[in-house]
Amino acid sequence: MAKLTLDDLRKLRDEKKQAMNQRDAEGKTAQVIIGMGTCGIAAGAKAAFDAFLDEMDKTGVTHATIKQTGCMGLCFSEPTVEVKMEGMPDVVYGNVDEDTARRIVRDHLKNKTLVSDHIFDKPSTDIIKD
Ligand code: FES
Repeated sequence: MAKLTLDDLRKLRDEKKQAMNQRDAEGKTAQVIIGMGTCGIAAGAKAAFDAFLDEMDKTGVTHATIKQTGCMGLCFSEPTVEVKMEGMPDVVYGNVDEDTARRIVRDHLKNKTLVSDHIFDKPSTDIIKD
């Protein structure tokens, strides 16, 4: 195994810090919640998750936190991703591959435009009345 230099360690620390920041909800105005149940993972949710992290990094989106959840009950539209953002309707996107994940970051999170061709549903909290 190759030895790490001090610069390598600093780079590693900065990368991990940034990754932790993307998962920290404090002070964030948007949440991206990815269904990572068995069927989600089988359908490519991990690749979508990584694409979200990468595109948020590339586009400088720092107001959103990214989380994973389990089964969302929507096998047929996996990978599914719920996006909640201030000033926008809560939506569930379906069939979110890597390209769609990047579009959601650029269009929804950055430019406040819905990615209409992948909207699958509204979250159940909008449907269920008290
Ligand atoms: S097992 Fe597929 S959504 Fe739950």
